[in-house]
Amino acid sequence: MAAVYIAGVGMTKFGKSSQTLAGLFCEAAVSALSNSPIQEVDALYIGVMNPEEFTGDSNIASQIAESLGVIGLPAVRVETASSAGAAALHAAWQAVASGYYRHVLVLGGEKMTHLSTSATTRILAEVIDKQERQCGSTMPALAAMITERYRKRYRLSHSRLERMLCRVAMKNHKNGSHNPYAQFRQAITEKSYFASKFVSTPLRLYDCSPITDGAAAMILTSERGDVVVSGIGQGTGPLSLRERDSFTSFRATQIAAARAYQMAGTSPKEIDFAEVHDAFTPFEIICTEDLGFFPRGGGGHAVEEGKTSLEGPLPINPSGGLKSRGHPVGASGVAQVVEVVWRLRGDTEAKLKREAKRALAQSTGGLGANNFVTIVERADAPLATRPRISPSAPPARQRPSAKKSLPAPISGEGRIETFTILYVTPDGFLPPLALALIRERQGSLLMAQGEDISHLKIGREVYLRQVGDRYLFTVKSHLTKVREALRKLLRRIPPRPPKGKASAKKGAP
Ligand code: COA
Repeated sequence: MAAVYIAGVGMTKFGKSSQTLAGLFCEAAVSALSNSPIQEVDALYIGVMNPEEFTGDSNIASQIAESLGVIGLPAVRVETASSAGAAALHAAWQAVASGYYRHVLVLGGEKMTHLSTSATTRILAEVIDKQERQCGSTMPALAAMITERYRKRYRLSHSRLERMLCRVAMKNHKNGSHNPYAQFRQAITEKSYFASKFVSTPLRLYDCSPITDGAAAMILTSERGDVVVSGIGQGTGPLSLRERDSFTSFRATQIAAARAYQMAGTSPKEIDFAEVHDAFTPFEIICTEDLGFFPRGGGGHAVEEGKTSLEGPLPINPSGGLKSRGHPVGASGVAQVVEVVWRLRGDTEAKLKREAKRALAQSTGGLGANNFVTIVERADAPLATRPRISPSAPPARQRPSAKKSLPAPISGEGRIETFTILYVTPDGFLPPLALALIRERQGSLLMAQGEDISHLKIGREVYLRQVGDRYLFTVKSHLTKVREALRKLLRRIPPRPPKGKASAKKGAP
């Protein structure tokens, strides 16, 4: 395999843009070519998540080739939900490493801000499992349910968890304030974090990445340059929450990381900084654990201790991350690597405490369903040593097995595994919307919509009923439980014989 280097890199400013999607892609491409020794490429690889629904465009690869004035060049679109940019980068890497192409242009982009939040939320939710989405689940809602599980698993109080999430938000907004390409360039205070509205409990506005327009680009080449892609890895995970072994980590990231570390011959200890997929603040915490930077349950403490700040020993999201730079879904996977390259070359406004030679970018597709890890180094970096600690990577499932179907008929009762109250709902659902993952009596999990929003807590017992293709739940109140217990007790007492029979017996000899 040939070594694959990164030549020019470029990006549009992220935020609200009046440009068309094709216009954004062209601006990013021109920007990457403007600082590249390579001016002609053999092919285009384009990452974009859902132009069909966001802008009404399909056949996007041909459209971009035409807009760039390179008709005749091979152009292909790659899509893996919100990691589409990283997927395009990895596909392009494979084409160059194999020797099939020498130079390729990788692009990632999305245009989202012209639609209402409810419409965007509905489109984004199409990447999640159908049964879960039919109840009104969205990306923030599922992220919130994972967060609640994380809190429970690591025995964090509500206020402790909130403080940790607030630290991530404050750090990334502060980092973004130095980034001229970021959507938000204002630092936030603890006060403004706690004053911000709930999007889906316990996640607030400042825990979520925004809705963004933008594009990023880079040229990959087999011609020796100053920055090399030394490791790539990809892993998949289940679409739905209910099919997961763990609600507090992403197996897809662990698989991707193990592959990338192995290819680069390196380990988490040798990474100088990382750009990770902080679409939601808790995802940054979980991701730093999945990547092996911190032990399980230790990601939040690391943020609180300042270990991941710009001045810390392992800066995470020095660019501001998706939280502050913005998240045009198809663009982010490319944008992260563009930021990494700028920082390795020393081309960023905010400097790290020590010189960085080796960095990592991690991108998440959907709810951790298709994740990528890319390791990038300066060509003059000292050779990486073999891993001393290998990240805990469970092997990918090798044998295909059919997805478990939903229980039918359901038992009618269950227990809350995790829950949220969603305040920013997709088209067709009114807020506030209670959502919970329920373990029904026979053991299977299903997503259900609450008939009201009170008494929600992990472990609470619920009644379940099915209406069409949705499940509805009602939390059993204290009174209902007492009534049920009484009814059970009464059932155990043998019924008294009818009066007539009793007197007949009495009169019998
Ligand atoms: N972080 C910080 N500020 C934000 C923000 C965010 N995520 N989203 C919006 N804002 C700001 C806006 O700039 C605006 O500020 P202004 O009043 O000074 O102009 C204000 O907050 C209100 O913005 P608005 O667009 O009305 O917010 P909204 O409620 O419609 O949308 C979210 C906010 C968080 C619901 C929306 O950004 C969202 O859905 N994000 C998640 C996207 C997602 O799921 N991506 C896929 C992940 S893989």
